[in-house]
Amino acid sequence: MITVDDLYRKKENQEKITMLTAYDYPTAVLEDKAGVDIILIGDSVGTNVLGYKDVTEVTMDDMVHHIKAVARGSENSFVLGDMPYGSFKTQEIALNNARRFMDAGASGIKMEGEEDVIDQMEYVASSGIPVCAHIGYTPQTDGNNASAQGKDIGRAIELLTIAERTKKAGAHMIVLELIPERLAKEITSILSIPTIGIGAGRFCDGQVQVIYDILGIPERIYKHAKAYDNIGEKYKNVISSFVNEVKALQFPTKDNSAEISDDLYNDICQWIQKNSPNLSMAHQK
Ligand code: KIV
Repeated sequence: MITVDDLYRKKENQEKITMLTAYDYPTAVLEDKAGVDIILIGDSVGTNVLGYKDVTEVTMDDMVHHIKAVARGSENSFVLGDMPYGSFKTQEIALNNARRFMDAGASGIKMEGEEDVIDQMEYVASSGIPVCAHIGYTPQTDGNNASAQGKDIGRAIELLTIAERTKKAGAHMIVLELIPERLAKEITSILSIPTIGIGAGRFCDGQVQVIYDILGIPERIYKHAKAYDNIGEKYKNVISSFVNEVKALQFPTKDNSAEISDDLYNDICQWIQKNSPNLSMAHQK
């Protein structure tokens, strides 16, 4: 099982860290087998899986349910649970909810936010639970309109400062979302903890992507993502093939079900003939 120490070692050795979201057991099995270092059960489960309009609708119960499924499928990867909106309002609430994640099988928790979450982060980290910070564009408070952060000196300094503060608060790694490449590079070289970028350029210690984006499931693929295939189109074609074949009596074929002997079949038919009046009466009742 990958630990925080393994991730530190990778940063030291300049070996890139990989993080992908997963929300279910089969995807976790595939990611784990493919050697993904960190599987993130992101609160993006809300928009990607549950049909919510944004991530603020995601509950602790939703997250725990999905963390359990992913944890069952992952043998080696670090399982990172994303604390949903409102689940870390105070230090006590944060710690109780972080413990629920750990009980569900998480290896650590991620907390989105900046100055407003430092105290909660420190409290959870000091309990021994590995914590991942998340700064830059933060969908829980910034909404669905993703925009690059740190494009003026004020915000750039804010991000540099807050990155350092999260490290001092005990964060073990940090997600940098939609931060310009050169700024993310500076943050990465200043911090001793691994930085994991999404839309933050080439020089972060690792990269994170939403699994559906790299599979090519959504119709719109963002600039920060790369669709390695068009599984969405293939998925749709497979479903259409099933619908068409069932309608055209092409599926199932004789080979898709079990057979019985002629003798047994004759016995069944005789039994039905004898009992069918009773059977249909039973059905009418
Ligand atoms: O919820 C999520 O998928 C995330 C990643 C984009 C980092 O937080």
